[in-house]
Amino acid sequence: MNKFYITTPIYYVNDKPHIGHAYTTLAADVLSRYHKRLGEKVFFLTGTDEHGLKVELSAQKSGKNPQEFVNEKAQEFKLAWQKFNIDYDNFLRTTDINHIQAVEKALQKLYERNFIYKGKYEGLYCVGCEQYKTRDDLIDGKCPEHNQTPILMKEESYFFKLSQFGKILEKKISSGQLDIQPEKRKKEVLNFIKRGLKDISISRKNVSWGIPLPFDKSHTTYVWIDAFLNYLTGLGWSGTADHYPEMWPPEVQLMSKDILRVHATIWPGILLAFGFPLPKKIFVHGYFTVNGQKMSKSLGNVIWPEDLIEKFGVDGARYLLISSLSYGQDGDISWEKLTKKYNADLANGLGNLVSRVVKLNEKIGAKVIEAKVKEKKAKIKNLNKLFNEIKLKEILDEIWKEVAWANKYIEEKKLWDLVKTKPVKGKKVLSELLSLISEISKLIFPFLPETSQKINEILKTGKTKVLFPRVKNAN
Ligand code: MSP
Repeated sequence: MNKFYITTPIYYVNDKPHIGHAYTTLAADVLSRYHKRLGEKVFFLTGTDEHGLKVELSAQKSGKNPQEFVNEKAQEFKLAWQKFNIDYDNFLRTTDINHIQAVEKALQKLYERNFIYKGKYEGLYCVGCEQYKTRDDLIDGKCPEHNQTPILMKEESYFFKLSQFGKILEKKISSGQLDIQPEKRKKEVLNFIKRGLKDISISRKNVSWGIPLPFDKSHTTYVWIDAFLNYLTGLGWSGTADHYPEMWPPEVQLMSKDILRVHATIWPGILLAFGFPLPKKIFVHGYFTVNGQKMSKSLGNVIWPEDLIEKFGVDGARYLLISSLSYGQDGDISWEKLTKKYNADLANGLGNLVSRVVKLNEKIGAKVIEAKVKEKKAKIKNLNKLFNEIKLKEILDEIWKEVAWANKYIEEKKLWDLVKTKPVKGKKVLSELLSLISEISKLIFPFLPETSQKINEILKTGKTKVLFPRVKNAN
């Protein structure tokens, strides 16, 4: 039986989830549901990244102790995913005791195997990214990601010998053994690696909110080392170097460009040090911008997942998010654009198609007939290819071409007249359309699970319901 292990990044709990987090988690949910339907052995892991300076400072700001603060925030993430109908197999929190113990054990092992040594770190650090920066990374002295001036750090630190893995990583990535997609992102990473990897600092002396190094308790573990290991501990790994979990390695790790570099260098470096297989694929999706601007709280333009659900319903929100980002590209959204798309594709598109056909059929009683097998197979094969390439928006576009075709077909055939003037012909057309709707309901299942189920019921009972009520533009 094929296996499919998929991960999302674990999100920082310095704030509540926004649509960027929702997008990645939703994309993982769609892929996981699709692979489950194929009968594969699937594991879908997500979770929260709860240690480090950024989270510690946010806790301080809110006047709470860090544990209390992260408990609340992790709950907010869980609740958001529940509202989005996200069906994960495990939600890993880095403050879970099992995770902490495994991280300690893993670090001890790396230390004993001589992959860790003590040195002095001197350089720039962006707290927003929780990442080291070079002068080349900055624009006007600031981190472009967070518009913050990085802090100059000078302290005793333990280092991981990443430099020794540069050549092998270059080989594995360029040969596609560790496949980084889209190609553009792969090239960026390879260029970075070719410039030479440096050993990296993996501990902090002045950050107390973290896991103490087992071999020197005056240091805590750098938050990224702690975080990466979640991909193993989320499968129940106890930190032993002797074996890796049965579901290892991930078939796909989803993320956006902000964290690709660390995922393509430090993370596989740690795995190589353990002698574990590398992930098969890292897929990098684009960023959301709102009305052409970066989403930011200070600009007041953040779109919150719960507001999307309130306005468009769960499946409406799922559809709109997935269809906003093309393969690996950034996507600009606004309430206006989302509303327009919802009304066009869902209220007037799929919703209208189902209700018209089912209503016209109330007195006729046409049945679903299996569509021509050959045609159907070709169509599904094509979608499988798009699923393997993680072209999720493109899959929806393909399905919605069928929806548009069917609505047009009804108009062209003047179906409401046809059922009266030529009932035999009318019944045949209705059968075809019902068959198409039944097929669409199967195809949309990974994306819109509730709607898929509702359509099945409608087809069974012959009684229509409003799937997607029209919404007004004003937000
Ligand atoms: N905690 C680290 C990840 C550790 S994984 C071992 C982290 N957390 S994060 O909360 O900042 O999440 C970053 C991820 O959230 C991105 O890689 C992406 O998956 C998602 N997004 C955050 N903002 C986004 C957009 N504006 N648009 C699309 N997705 C983005 O980094």
